[in-house]
Amino acid sequence: MSYSSSEHISIAQDDRVLRLRFNRPDKKNAITRDMYSTLATAIERANRDSVVRVILIEGSSDCFTSGNDLSDFMNAPQTGPDSPVGRFLEVASTTPKPLMAAVTGIAVGIGTTLLLHCDLAYASESAQFSMPFVNLGLVPEFGSSLLLPQLMGHRRAAQLLMFGERFDAATALKLGVINEIFPDDTIADDALARAHQLGEQPPSALRQTKQLMKQAVLGDIAKQIQIESKHFAQMLTAPEAKEAFQAFLQKRKPEFSSFE
Ligand code: COA
Repeated sequence: MSYSSSEHISIAQDDRVLRLRFNRPDKKNAITRDMYSTLATAIERANRDSVVRVILIEGSSDCFTSGNDLSDFMNAPQTGPDSPVGRFLEVASTTPKPLMAAVTGIAVGIGTTLLLHCDLAYASESAQFSMPFVNLGLVPEFGSSLLLPQLMGHRRAAQLLMFGERFDAATALKLGVINEIFPDDTIADDALARAHQLGEQPPSALRQTKQLMKQAVLGDIAKQIQIESKHFAQMLTAPEAKEAFQAFLQKRKPEFSSFE
């Protein structure tokens, strides 16, 4: 099966591993609608491709992704199930094939919540994570309001979601967000080696193991994504988010003191 890269997503098949790489470094790999579409299509195709056994998501050397493109949030706020982001959330959270990520540098918003859907996630020593949804006048997405408390307990999840502050790779490891930390200069090779190692496992046993681990929770995740998306869509055009987005574009601090 053939895979087509787009302007900002590089796709390469390396033996049994499909590598999907964010490639928009001038905007810190902020994810546009086109990028979500390309990723969703590639994962859908990989699901039907018997050669591909593992999907690996990567970023540039100093940045995984700065999350959803904030200009898209302002100008084209689409989050429904048929929107590009909606399609991506669905296919990434339900793919039967092992999904892996290698985080280098910054992973903001969906850059971190995506990891909750990866079976295995790795990060470089200098990786930095954050989920600043509240800071942007928004609510968590991608099932993270369910998956984070399940993973680390309500209190730790509240710390990350309510303050939206950055945390480092050692903290991500301690909280169970990632599996392993690799040196900055070898992470691409180290994560790829892990992906190849997984690709050598018996494929049907691998897929069925994933299915067994996920089948009890998939329905809850899909439902939570749907509920979150509704709230998210409402908040996207509300005054708090408008102020946050404008402040980002104007490179100033947002001012929320007049809101109730
Ligand atoms: N959407 C759109 N553009 C973005 C972006 C995003 N999520 N993140 C970064 N960019 C753009 C910046 O506007 C800037 O563009 P410009 O050069 O045309 O001014 C360029 O990418 C470089 O970003 P900059 O902020 O100068 O880099 P930095 O290293 O100082 O900071 C970040 C990097 C990721 C910490 C910072 O850009 C940031 O906080 N981005 C927003 C993250 C975010 O809130 N994402 C949504 C989560 S739901």
